[in-house]
Amino acid sequence: MSIDAAQLESLTAQAQADIAGAESAHALTEVRARYLGKKGSVAQVLRTLGKLDPADRAALGQAANAAKQRIEAWVEERRATIEQGERGAALEVERLDITLPSAGVPLGHLHPLSLVTRDMVAFFSSMGFLYEEAPEVETEYNNFEALNIPADHPSRDEQDTFFVEDGNVLRTQTSNVQIRTMSQQQPPFRFIAPGRVYRRDSSPRHSPMFHQIEGFIVDETVTFGDLKGVLLAFGRHMMRGDIELRFRANHFPFTEPSAEMDYACLLCAKQGCPACSNSGWLEWGGCGMIHPRVLERCGIDSEVYQGFAFGMGIDRTAMLRYGVPHLRLLFEGDTRFLEQF
Ligand code: DAH
Repeated sequence: MSIDAAQLESLTAQAQADIAGAESAHALTEVRARYLGKKGSVAQVLRTLGKLDPADRAALGQAANAAKQRIEAWVEERRATIEQGERGAALEVERLDITLPSAGVPLGHLHPLSLVTRDMVAFFSSMGFLYEEAPEVETEYNNFEALNIPADHPSRDEQDTFFVEDGNVLRTQTSNVQIRTMSQQQPPFRFIAPGRVYRRDSSPRHSPMFHQIEGFIVDETVTFGDLKGVLLAFGRHMMRGDIELRFRANHFPFTEPSAEMDYACLLCAKQGCPACSNSGWLEWGGCGMIHPRVLERCGIDSEVYQGFAFGMGIDRTAMLRYGVPHLRLLFEGDTRFLEQF
């Protein structure tokens, strides 16, 4: 079967119409294959040329090649149009208004306990105290014995202890810093040491892990008067007010004399309110003159040196300072609470 020039012309016209009707790059590729592919219509025409008279063959051959070129040109033209349209549509869909305000990246910030701790350390640094740390897993010796708390001492029960392997304990107080520092360095000493402590005590008002800050000074002429002055300045700084301190005689094995310190409730001006359990006073910590036996245990001549020490809860201080009603709020990590600081 062979075709003539008129049929080739109508084939070409059909190709032009099909190309114009192709709506996508994919459809266009199919149309092109139908006409220009190996088994396409134009190829078929070229294959039949051999059966024609030489005169007709040349003419139809030229016409077929010309048709091929025109179809190729239409395909390319159409492809350009389709691609342009597709790119435009994609741009429309992906349109970004870069002038819109951003959603904002939430920034973290310090926990109230970190804020209070840093403030405490900064305050004592301004008074010449050095910062010190001690391990939370501590020997019984450093946590108790060296602090003049022998194995059968009743205060060991008060500080219900977590025992760990190898006879060590989770330190029940930051006072272990005193032992480690004083037995490794030479007096005079002037140290502040905040950190975590642990006791088997979990109730609405207690947590098995809490924070204390320990401070102590050892020198040749240190008095209880110095202790009072330092703590009064400290209390006024922390509570941001002209607070009144009260010292009540108490007993700690590692100090003699020992005192418990309270400060006058700022909320009710000592009249009594729920915050101070109607007593007018808030307990803040313990303190005293370092027991000579503790100094001697650390190799310090207690005839030459004396010192004072104090320790208080950081969590409690944060609660009082910020008016936090429940201890657990400090440990739950609830961002609604934490975002307020
Ligand atoms: N370590 C005591 C406690 O955990 C607090 C304390 C009292 C520390 C008196 C001291 C001090 O340094 O002198 O209850």
